[in-house]
Amino acid sequence: MTTTRTIERVFPAVRTTEGAGFIVHRPFPTRTLMDFDPFLLLDEMGPVDYAPGTAKGAPDHPHRGFETVTYALEGRFGHKDSAGHSGTLAPGDVQWMTAGAGVIHSEMPDPEFARTGGRVHGLQLWVNLPARDKMIAPRYQEIPSARIPVGRSADGKVSVKVIAGEALGAKAVIETRTPILYQHFTIAPGGRVEQPVPSEWRVFAYGLSGSGSYGPAGERIEAQQMVAFANDGDTVVLAAPDDAAEPLEVLLIGGVPLNEPVVRYGPFVMNTEAEIRQAVLDYQAGRMGRISH
Ligand code: FE2
Repeated sequence: MTTTRTIERVFPAVRTTEGAGFIVHRPFPTRTLMDFDPFLLLDEMGPVDYAPGTAKGAPDHPHRGFETVTYALEGRFGHKDSAGHSGTLAPGDVQWMTAGAGVIHSEMPDPEFARTGGRVHGLQLWVNLPARDKMIAPRYQEIPSARIPVGRSADGKVSVKVIAGEALGAKAVIETRTPILYQHFTIAPGGRVEQPVPSEWRVFAYGLSGSGSYGPAGERIEAQQMVAFANDGDTVVLAAPDDAAEPLEVLLIGGVPLNEPVVRYGPFVMNTEAEIRQAVLDYQAGRMGRISH
């Protein structure tokens, strides 16, 4: 016997700018929702069309105490960091960066893409690390699109890219520090999926395009809205209405809440004020390294 989770609350994304001025849709953090334990931030970058030579990014900056997960949908994202990693994310690629004790990175458009211009669309999720893991060594998991497992429903109406966790028989290849699910569903009109989720996990959906029908009541909710599910069941129902004009593209994200104090200061997220002061000192003293350009 399974119970379908109801919708606790819907949070519209706030349109804002980040880094050197790129446009993001941000469901959290906002004034109404500071975080969604164990997640600290979700940014939908774009979609935005850049003219040649105008694409923007986030130049060199540090992180400590959490993980940044970048998922490219359109455009080409360049990255470079103080541990000597550099590369390009093409559509469908994922970079799961565990900042741990500290890393400095730059997230800029790929130079060739910046020159020609084009459409940029992607996601960045910040996953908090438990206190015991905040000072671990940085780690990178770069997974090209071809290695992201895809699950499909028997009726062919639902497919899912499994970045973390398990869905429709597909199991993620990325390793997480605490149990996390991160899934990108594409649901054709009239399609429906029932995703099992442990009852104690905090889970939300975020629509990228198309309208969705969520929860046991099939509440219709448009894109760029975050649907936070209540902890009152062990499955989540995502569906696309029969009369939908286009498929529903929706992310389902969830995890075990850490239930630890969260102290944030820009790119540092720790458990205490003293740890934040130490992060600032370490950064200023160059102890998070630097990028050789
Ligand atoms: Fe960053």
